[in-house]
Amino acid sequence: MYHPEGPAFLELMRQALVSTERGYDLIAPKFDHTPFRTPEPVLDAMISEISGPRSIGSALDVCCGTGAAMRHLRALCKERVIGLDFSQGMLDEARLRLANAPGDAAMELVRGDALALPFDAEVDVVTCVGAFGHIVAEDEDRFVAGIARALRPGGRFVFATGEMPRRTSPGWWAARTFNGVMRVRNALLKPEFVMYYCASRRRRSSKPAHRDHPARRMAIGAKRRFLSGSVSVGTSVGGE
Ligand SMILES: C[S@@+](CC[C@H](N)C(=O)[O-])C[C@H]1O[C@@H](n2cnc3c(N)ncnc32)[C@H](O)[C@@H]1O
Repeated sequence: MYHPEGPAFLELMRQALVSTERGYDLIAPKFDHTPFRTPEPVLDAMISEISGPRSIGSALDVCCGTGAAMRHLRALCKERVIGLDFSQGMLDEARLRLANAPGDAAMELVRGDALALPFDAEVDVVTCVGAFGHIVAEDEDRFVAGIARALRPGGRFVFATGEMPRRTSPGWWAARTFNGVMRVRNALLKPEFVMYYCASRRRRSSKPAHRDHPARRMAIGAKRRFLSGSVSVGTSVGGE
């Protein structure tokens, strides 16, 4: 699971003891050698949900990290690809890694909070991958509302996320145990490190909070099975 060039166990522990933002700053140079960097097959599946080369104007990747999705998005865009993340360390790595990304759309890296997106009807596609664990259930509506605001009319929110494990599976129990440890850590230590697995209210509730919100009409576009497990690629249409 761990790469020789990736962070050592102690480095990951140190990451979890500081804030989410600072934690990512610390592991940024080694992040691409961790299992937390979204694997290429998952990115390929998400990108194939969008469309072909130069088929859209602009895209925004929320919680872009080191730019894994942005590298793929550039070829699809005619205008610009924006990556937003709150870790300056991750953005610095993204800048280095995206220098030779194929395509000619302008690339912009913005330091900001996924819960306060500073965009208004500016992009045709918003993507987010590998980061839903950082959005706690209480913030989900704010998160989705910001994405809907960023989209142009008819725009889409395209994302990849893991399948919820069955309650009887070891994966479900591992997630619960991890979340329990994080809750204790966050109760004892400030600032918090926000990362919880399989904790989305969306999956537990049959009633979306903003039922009338366009970005709420999420339809699972495709399900694909990868070595690391099952991944859903979802699309929601927003901004109409
Ligand atoms: C696990 S990494 C995923 C990075 C990338 N999307 C990928 O798939 O490889 C999660 C990223 O989300 C960012 N992040 C977490 N919470 C955030 C927030 N509230 N606003 C902006 N970025 C956030 C972290 O800094 C980190 O770069």
